[in-house]
Amino acid sequence: MRCLVTGAAGFIGSHLSERLVTLGHDVVGVDSFNTYYDPTIKRQNIAEVSGNSRFTLIEADLAEADLAPLLDGADWIFHLAGQPGVRGSWGDQFSGYLRNNIHVTQRLLEAARSHSPQRLVYASSSSIYGDAPTPMRESARPQPVSPYGVTKLSGEHLMEAYHKSYGVPTVSLRFFTVYGPRQRPDMAFNRFLRAIGEGQPVHLYGSGNQTRDFTYVGDIVDACLRAVTADCVGAAINLGGGASVTVNYVLELLGEITGKRVQVVRQAGPRGDAPHTAASTQQARELLNWQPKESLVDGLRNQAEWQLGADKLTRHTVASISTRTQHNVPRLVIYGHDTYGLGHLRRNLTIAAGLSQAYPDLSLLLLTGSPAVQHFPLPPNVDYVKLPAVVKVADEHYQARTLRMEPAEIVQMRSAIVRETVASFAPDVLLVDHAPIGMKGELLPALQDLRKSRPQAKIVLGLRDIIDEPARVRATWAEQDVASVLERYYDSILVYGVPEVLNVVDAYQMSPESAAKTRYCGYLPRQRSSAHPQATRATYCAPGERLVVVAAGGGGDGYSLLWQYLRSLAEEESPERVASVVVTGPFMPADERVELERLAERHPRVRLIDFTDDMLALLQAADVVLCMGGYNTMCEVLSVGARALVAPRSAPRHEQLLRANAFERLGLARVIQPDSLTPQLVAQQIAETLASVERGDNSERAALDMFVGSGALDGVNATVRAIGELFERVLVAK
Ligand code: NAD
Ligand code: UGA
Repeated sequence: MRCLVTGAAGFIGSHLSERLVTLGHDVVGVDSFNTYYDPTIKRQNIAEVSGNSRFTLIEADLAEADLAPLLDGADWIFHLAGQPGVRGSWGDQFSGYLRNNIHVTQRLLEAARSHSPQRLVYASSSSIYGDAPTPMRESARPQPVSPYGVTKLSGEHLMEAYHKSYGVPTVSLRFFTVYGPRQRPDMAFNRFLRAIGEGQPVHLYGSGNQTRDFTYVGDIVDACLRAVTADCVGAAINLGGGASVTVNYVLELLGEITGKRVQVVRQAGPRGDAPHTAASTQQARELLNWQPKESLVDGLRNQAEWQLGADKLTRHTVASISTRTQHNVPRLVIYGHDTYGLGHLRRNLTIAAGLSQAYPDLSLLLLTGSPAVQHFPLPPNVDYVKLPAVVKVADEHYQARTLRMEPAEIVQMRSAIVRETVASFAPDVLLVDHAPIGMKGELLPALQDLRKSRPQAKIVLGLRDIIDEPARVRATWAEQDVASVLERYYDSILVYGVPEVLNVVDAYQMSPESAAKTRYCGYLPRQRSSAHPQATRATYCAPGERLVVVAAGGGGDGYSLLWQYLRSLAEEESPERVASVVVTGPFMPADERVELERLAERHPRVRLIDFTDDMLALLQAADVVLCMGGYNTMCEVLSVGARALVAPRSAPRHEQLLRANAFERLGLARVIQPDSLTPQLVAQQIAETLASVERGDNSERAALDMFVGSGALDGVNATVRAIGELFERVLVAK
């Protein structure tokens, strides 16, 4: 094709000319080499392509030159010549903007009327949007906040007018802050890298929290090439890089890329600077089949290499920031450190199932350290990234579960995986389970990154009702500076419980700011099993027999309770005609399990199993459930309305004991206190509970009905609603 590129010696024009020539097209490049910035830089920009016989350079001012010979025979016209720069467009400078952006554009269109090119592509700008809501859609009302933006918008309107009235086949491409090698010397990255290279401070305008949807020049060139053949005449199309990040974050990345500490001098935010830009690129996908390819980190590296030389850059990797462009399809990460048992994973999977149902187009990524994750069925739109497993060996002390790694080494590795995953996936909401800073602070780099790279994303802490003895939680939180982490990073705190069981705000002495973003969702109910109770009973007990189910959660510390129960069967009080199912849990150490098997063999009406994927079926069928006081077990017991006898553990944490006692106070369960747990007492309590079943005593049922009636067991719906509201705030309603 025969192409005319205006502004061919400029930053973007020179890249486009090179690509066209490489593809075998003939290019006439026009440029006036004006002095907006040093014309020798422009000469360098086109030095290479000028040596190609397919390229012809015409030095001319489009405001004055006779345009007919330039347009003669041109199939594709790319109109990139113009007066760029947002901040300098006020005052006397405006006449240059008027001339080069409006007058030149109108002259070119007049000439195009009689020359019938196949396509005229116009370099428009994100600055036509001003401070429109993000992501910016082409349908939004353009309200530029700088005179520059006004002139670029005029250019678009001229394109439309000549298209409608004279059929000139125009298309306007709205470039969002372009960067890469040859970036103009007045633009941010070029200025930053120059200052860093000279060991000078960079000048930061405003707080640095303004965001830009920085777009790599190679991607812009790709889109220009698509725009000449695609079915898009008359359209205006956004071109954004997909990672709308703060300027502060870019400075951090530049520090990592150059290995230099970036010094900053702050200056007042200039007039005309839009606070945030982020492109909706749906139209670009639909009309041009275009998506940005370059990640911000790689693109920045290319520009840094061009400006400073490869030898001045560090080698170490940095998190690659997502080039996410599908802004209206929600993404969620749920992080669970999962260092002990199954509880955290179960809770997160319950929430995942609720969200997955409510948002069928949601993409949900679990970040979990649980070695058991592959045993659980995942909803269709859920996937997981597995962190290397660690086990908790003492309070705040962890060890690699299977890998031969030092604790500090494995924390560092997990932290890097978490950081990279969050950066690449670019979630709209990050839901952190239980530990505000993650295991040993492994989450902090990801939180810091997300705040800066995707400030619009929401970060949520999900707390089960009781963490531990309040005084201990307060001490740990003080040590980890959780108060300021909650204030700085978290938008919302969801409590999967009710204040009647624990008022977390008072108990953990949260600040008024954190208290204001705390919401009680209630307990997370489990879906009842589809197995009919009678069918389950028929599997485990004979007609007329009572069924006792004994469960010890994951099994890591269930031995003592199960041992007590099996021993209780030898006691005189132990009732006749009772069948039992004893579930050890998958994490019970093998020697403990063998010992329990030995004990169980003495009792023909006992079935010992180590895992069931349908615990709810068992609980539904039971007359009495003897269990520990773990959060999930209690949710399961509440969900099926089982008669529960709770023997909570009291070490290393008091959490189960506090929960069990609170439930007993509310009339929802009976508790065997840890220091009085003996086979005799277990036997006696089981016998009494079974006797109350015989009598038809329904007092616990009534308490449960009241509890459920107050919405205390509506946690999944409430959590889904809370997260849904956050999605709405991040994503533009479809
Ligand atoms: P640039 O200044 O490097 O390139 C523009 C070129 O046009 C310059 O070489 C200049 O000499 C030439 N020119 C200006 N007036 C002329 C005239 N009257 N006659 C002939 N040549 C003239 O700028 P750039 O960053 O490459 O931008 C190219 C186009 O893209 C501009 O229209 C700009 O408004 C638009 N744009 C750029 C960005 C960005 O981030 N760089 C973003 C949005 C839109
Ligand atoms: C860029 C181009 O310069 C415009 O020509 C283009 O039209 C516009 O993108 C667009 O997308 O439409 P801008 O977003 O201001 O304009 O790009 P930069 O000059 O790279 O500035 C990015 C941010 O860095 C701005 O918020 C700016 O205030 C800030 N900045 C810039 C600094 O903090 N310090 C500097 O030294 C330079």
